[in-house]
Amino acid sequence: MSTQAPSRPAGGDIKISCRNIWKIYGREPDSFFTARNGEVEAPDSLHARIIESGHIGAACNVSFDVEVGEIFVIMGLSGSGKSTMVRCISRLVEPTAGQVIMDGGDLLEVSEKELIEIRRHKMGMVFQNFGLLPHQTVLENVAFPLKVQAVPKEEREKRALGVIELVGLQGREMSFPRELSGGQQQRVGIARSLAVEPEIWFLDEPFSALDPLIRRQMQNEFLRLQRLLHKTIVFITHDFLEALRLADRIAIMKDGWIEQIGTPSDVVMNPATDYVAEFTQDVPRVKVITAGDIAEPVAEGLDPGASVSPVTTLEELMPRLAGRDEGLAVVDDSGRIMGRVTPHTVVSALATAEAQAET
Ligand SMILES: Nc1ncnc2c1ncn2[C@@H]1O[C@H](COP(=O)(O)OP(=O)(O)O)[C@@H](O)[C@H]1O
Ligand SMILES: [Mg+2]
Repeated sequence: MSTQAPSRPAGGDIKISCRNIWKIYGREPDSFFTARNGEVEAPDSLHARIIESGHIGAACNVSFDVEVGEIFVIMGLSGSGKSTMVRCISRLVEPTAGQVIMDGGDLLEVSEKELIEIRRHKMGMVFQNFGLLPHQTVLENVAFPLKVQAVPKEEREKRALGVIELVGLQGREMSFPRELSGGQQQRVGIARSLAVEPEIWFLDEPFSALDPLIRRQMQNEFLRLQRLLHKTIVFITHDFLEALRLADRIAIMKDGWIEQIGTPSDVVMNPATDYVAEFTQDVPRVKVITAGDIAEPVAEGLDPGASVSPVTTLEELMPRLAGRDEGLAVVDDSGRIMGRVTPHTVVSALATAEAQAET
């Protein structure tokens, strides 16, 4: 239950760090801790005491780091503690214990006033139920967070129009939410959350209320926006395939605990618990394993002109390798050659993955 995989990403700057966060609901949640960080016993025995006394552990000893510019997905079934975690990070709910470090400072130490400023200027939030103001137009809804910041009308409308165009809603500025489809309403929600140019973008099941086809479009849209904007993102979903599609890294939660943290291919290829393995069982490996995962090192002789990005999935890679026995160079964003993929490496990786899946 308490398998705490390494919470630290491979490299790069950390934007937010959650350290041993507990959120306990019930009569006397504070009674389990001597002070806010005064954890006095092993997490598992503390948890047993919490449950025995009729309290709910909505988040239990949760630790992870979110790197600048990454899409960090928290995935879990309903009631697993995802919304609790995202609310703890933004302090919309007060953690019972633990620390939230943002840009090096403890967010739980700042005053209510500073906190409001941080939320207004640094955080953008998107919710499952859109949360739009029904009697305001698209333009007014999107400009609203800027109005709260007291940005002058002309300036805020200019900025709002910019993000409305970014999400593809130009022409609908004067519409009211009820005149829009679910997908369009969520585009308004996304535009509004981006209007303040947040440093951290929280999305709590933003596409869960949408039809599968629209959901797919919105996922693509979201990835397109992230390629443009490079935000630091905490994205919540209960949909494992959505998590695999969108995540740089995934944290899988169950009953308030983190089961595993890893890249999509880590999680699928090396599930840390039986629970994670159940999710991964039916996932087609070709959609998960990437060129970067299987690149074999080569000394020289690669044609950097014939290259693929390390995030290319095997599904995307296979047609490009047809008739290319010499393979393709795997070249990362900075132009570094990571190695080579060939039809042979792909087939052998898939065979290995299938063999693992059967055991
Ligand atoms: N205000 C609250 N009071 C009591 N229990 C709560 C409260 N909010 C959430 N919970 C409980 O905490 C657990 C986690 O809830 P939540 O974070 O909303 O899960 P998720 O977003 O993964 O569906 C659930 O058992 C839920 O019933
Ligand atoms: Mg939720």
